[in-house]
Amino acid sequence: MNDENEVTRAIMGRRSIRNYSDRVVPDELIEMLIDMGIHAPSALALFPWSFIVVKDRGMMKRVSEYVKPQILAELKNAKRVGMTQRYLDMVGEERFSIFYNAPSLLLILGKNDAPISDVDCSLCAQNIMLAAHSLGLGTCWIGSARHLEKNPGLVEELGIPDEYHLVASLVLGYPAENPEMPARPEPSVNWIK
Ligand SMILES: Cc1cc2nc3c(=O)[nH]c(=O)nc-3n(C[C@H](O)[C@H](O)[C@H](O)COP(=O)(O)O)c2cc1C
Repeated sequence: MNDENEVTRAIMGRRSIRNYSDRVVPDELIEMLIDMGIHAPSALALFPWSFIVVKDRGMMKRVSEYVKPQILAELKNAKRVGMTQRYLDMVGEERFSIFYNAPSLLLILGKNDAPISDVDCSLCAQNIMLAAHSLGLGTCWIGSARHLEKNPGLVEELGIPDEYHLVASLVLGYPAENPEMPARPEPSVNWIK
């Protein structure tokens, strides 16, 4: 792309980070990222989100240990090709954390009674991931963390209110890797002029 500016650079440069340094992300920076998130567009201007910031590594470990067998069960019958097999091998390792040992986790909850809160929360999450990247932080959306909602004990410990559900789980920290961009297939685009 020739028309480079801060936004396009952030879009092209952001990667999912799966290796983090131990450096703690200051609360003020996380507050700033949430502020970036809530400036996303939202259907009917309902802004139907709520946030939980987890900096307790013990809590993250408990969630990860609960989720790992769920992932293995879920993918048991998945086609074991390429990425899937590599992911399953990784998840099967004792020391593996679904949160890649990141120092913090940001949960974005969607309000159950808002018509399309999942879309709103996903836009909010993308704002946060792009802003984090532009501030030198790494993120990765951990979709597998959604399994935690099956565990009432974890839901209570995390303080997820009844009227909300988990949409996005983003790990957040200082990157200890600089991964290549996974290749994007050419999009199918149908122009109607
Ligand atoms: C909804 C969603 C769920 C994801 N869940 C996981 C996950 O559970 N674990 C993981 O390592 N990456 C997860 N990812 C990250 C994707 O694997 C990643 O976005 C993809 O490989 C493209 O790489 P990039 O983000 O660096 O462009 C998820 C991404 C999205 C959008």
